[in-house]
Amino acid sequence: MSENKAPFYITTAISYPNGRPHIGHAYEAIATDVMARFQRSRGRDVRMVTGTDEHGLKMFQTARDQGRATIDLADEMSEYFREMYAKLNISYDNFMRTSDAAHHAASQAIWRAMEANGDLYLDRYEGWYSVRDEAFYDESELAEGEGGIRLSPQGTPVEWTVEESWFFRLSVYQDRLLALYRDQPDFIRPESRRNEVLRFVEGGLKDLSVSRTSFDWGVPVPGSPGHVMYVWVDALTTYLSGLGYPDTDGDFGKFWPANIHMIGKDIVRFHTVYWPAFLMSAGLPLPKQVFGHGFLLNRGEKMSKSLGNVVDPMALAEQFGVDPLRYYLLREVSFGQDGTYSAEAIVRTANADLANSFGNLAQRSLSMIFKNLDGVVSSDYASHEDDRALMAIVDDACRTLLPREFEQLAFSVGIEEWLRAVFACNHYVDTQAPWALRKSDPERMRAVLMTLFQAVRALAIAIRPVVPAAADKLLDQMGVAPDARDFDALEEADWFAALAASGFTVGQPVPLFPRLELPEGAGEA
Ligand code: MF3
Repeated sequence: MSENKAPFYITTAISYPNGRPHIGHAYEAIATDVMARFQRSRGRDVRMVTGTDEHGLKMFQTARDQGRATIDLADEMSEYFREMYAKLNISYDNFMRTSDAAHHAASQAIWRAMEANGDLYLDRYEGWYSVRDEAFYDESELAEGEGGIRLSPQGTPVEWTVEESWFFRLSVYQDRLLALYRDQPDFIRPESRRNEVLRFVEGGLKDLSVSRTSFDWGVPVPGSPGHVMYVWVDALTTYLSGLGYPDTDGDFGKFWPANIHMIGKDIVRFHTVYWPAFLMSAGLPLPKQVFGHGFLLNRGEKMSKSLGNVVDPMALAEQFGVDPLRYYLLREVSFGQDGTYSAEAIVRTANADLANSFGNLAQRSLSMIFKNLDGVVSSDYASHEDDRALMAIVDDACRTLLPREFEQLAFSVGIEEWLRAVFACNHYVDTQAPWALRKSDPERMRAVLMTLFQAVRALAIAIRPVVPAAADKLLDQMGVAPDARDFDALEEADWFAALAASGFTVGQPVPLFPRLELPEGAGEA
């Protein structure tokens, strides 16, 4: 099978459900979903796995502080993640909860494989641990905070921990990891993240503590009563259990290794050092790429409860609409870098690009066909050089430029290419002035409107992974069959003649993107 039709597996990070999802979770889910939809549209069989990471001290302590059972906290919060995904139109195939029995079995299977390879031994851990990061740190990595307290590189408090623990022989994987980064330069992206990891691994690796004995909320270590696995060991295994591992016949056999693990830049080390080492130890193939995206900043500031600027993604979707929010996040943020958002910016972008440019183009094109041609589409018209020039621009953007950029996760660049084609169409409408041709040259008007119909269809198909609901609503009105809305359909030459021959007619079009208003008081702060 050629690489561009091979099965495609993508994951989001598996989120801690110690609170409700925030905009960062929404952002990652949307970007991952757009990639999954894009690959489906390219004709690939796709699996997208997401879920909640329910073990570890952070979950245990949060629940304890609330006076409730950990599973009770996990049940409630995990449900909010699912609700958010439903609201945001996230097309995942499998939502995994790490507290599920099947996931426990998968984690124990990879554990046994690492043990069989001689990579696990029992010893005593003495060192620093951050509960917030669920991470072990070396003394040399710590900074001093106010009042002399020690802080992790992420700025979270660490505590001195002493306990009996299983260790994973991470130290012996240094050379193989460096060889991986060298031979598979795309393994870590973007480039800046790759350099950080290279420096860290070149500095030497210590063996990793991979079990805990001071609490029992986790996956039991096989054959070692009193030990539960370090939360990251089982969390990372979700990428396997989400495909049915340890059963290797079904999805696992077909979709592993993952094409992309989409994660935040703060958890790159776990995914590019620990994870490949665990997989090498267990004799499993390695993922093709780990992409560490940036953070979203609210008006340039990091969200925090003390700043009072924590934004509920459900409220944003409610206020501005799901598609405008999805579009904004991918268009505005150069993927891989930090980005910023505000109500004004969402309103400005959605109005400019979606309502005024693309929405208006679709609306006026269909409405003129409805009014001036009784809705009749026909492929029998004499095309002019201007029509062919426009279609060349649109085809190039939709069939070549946008897909080329999306393939690289360069969403904002791909969308810009698309938008350039939208602008070209609007310019064409203005210069051809079909309303004026109605009396002077009705045949020419028909050619212009039929050209626009075809351009709008291609633009809708290309942007559909980003704004799926609006694109489908438009394509419904254009008589484009649900199974002819993918990139392969853009390669078909006779779809338009077939649609015309079917007797389809355009009805009174319904608007796709209502103009958004700024909420009262917004932007005055
Ligand atoms: N729960 C971790 C976090 O939110 C992410 C775990 S990703 C995993 O930072 F796949 F490894 F689970």
